[in-house]
Amino acid sequence: MTKTTLVIKVGGSALGSLDTSLADLVALHQSGLRPVVVHGGGDLISSWLKRMGVATRFVRGLRVTDAETMRVVAAVLAGLVNKELVASITTLGGRAFGMSGVEGGFIRASVADPELGYVGSALEIDLRPLNDVLKAGYIPVISPICLQKITGGGGPGVLLNVNGDAVAGQLALSLRASKLVFLTDVAGICDASGEVIPYLSPEEAKGLISSGVVSGGMIPKVEACILALEKVQVARIIDGRTPHALLREMEDGEGGTTIGRTR
Ligand SMILES: Nc1ncnc2c1ncn2[C@@H]1O[C@H](COP(=O)(O)OP(=O)(O)OP(=O)(O)O)[C@@H](O)[C@H]1O
Ligand SMILES: [Mg+2]
Repeated sequence: MTKTTLVIKVGGSALGSLDTSLADLVALHQSGLRPVVVHGGGDLISSWLKRMGVATRFVRGLRVTDAETMRVVAAVLAGLVNKELVASITTLGGRAFGMSGVEGGFIRASVADPELGYVGSALEIDLRPLNDVLKAGYIPVISPICLQKITGGGGPGVLLNVNGDAVAGQLALSLRASKLVFLTDVAGICDASGEVIPYLSPEEAKGLISSGVVSGGMIPKVEACILALEKVQVARIIDGRTPHALLREMEDGEGGTTIGRTR
């Protein structure tokens, strides 16, 4: 029997308050589910860039990434954040395996827009390295650093910074996951008056981007949900700062915002 696959995006902004969610993750894995974790680390990257005197700015929720920024993004995301997450899950008794999109050429990307620098989009996923990790019984913990697609051989490999939400959405689609869950630092998608919207169809969600109600870091999340919903039943955006957010999500799925084809 194939196990239920969940793709869980852990927002960098919710990282500091994740202790109970990581314990939940271990419990869900031990109960026979197959979680795949993708993480961000936006706030930590910004603070390391500041420490190193590198200015940063965002366009449509994506960080403009020059060569120096790319080095810091890779060091912080694929290094510090990824290893701390794997260390915490391991200390909690879980089996976690840290990787990025680079390992085994797992996720390749193209430069999205030269104006954004080393930012990748149009992801191509080779599921083999991931499936090997899953088959070996690990929770993959994935940092969204990807390898640039190249035509022709040779030359140095180029790293690209891909938004974690985009990686989570594409992975959920490729894996035909049962569910895509975003743990973030807000209670859900809010309307213009700040109230959480419990349910959105993909079309309604798209409309919120056009109208500007969804902005900044919420844009790539909504876009990832819309993409994944081609094959995935349901996508959820929930508050990762609340105690046992993940366990509660799997028990009753209350709170936050559901984006789905059926209500
Ligand atoms: N309509 C909206 N409802 C809720 N949040 C919104 C909305 N529009 C924009 N946002 C912003 O989106 C943010 C969440 O995205 P953000 O990229 O900051 O976090 P994350 O993706 O969880 O973390 P990371 O990028 O580090 O992985 C919220 O903190 C909020 O400021
Ligand atoms: Mg984000």
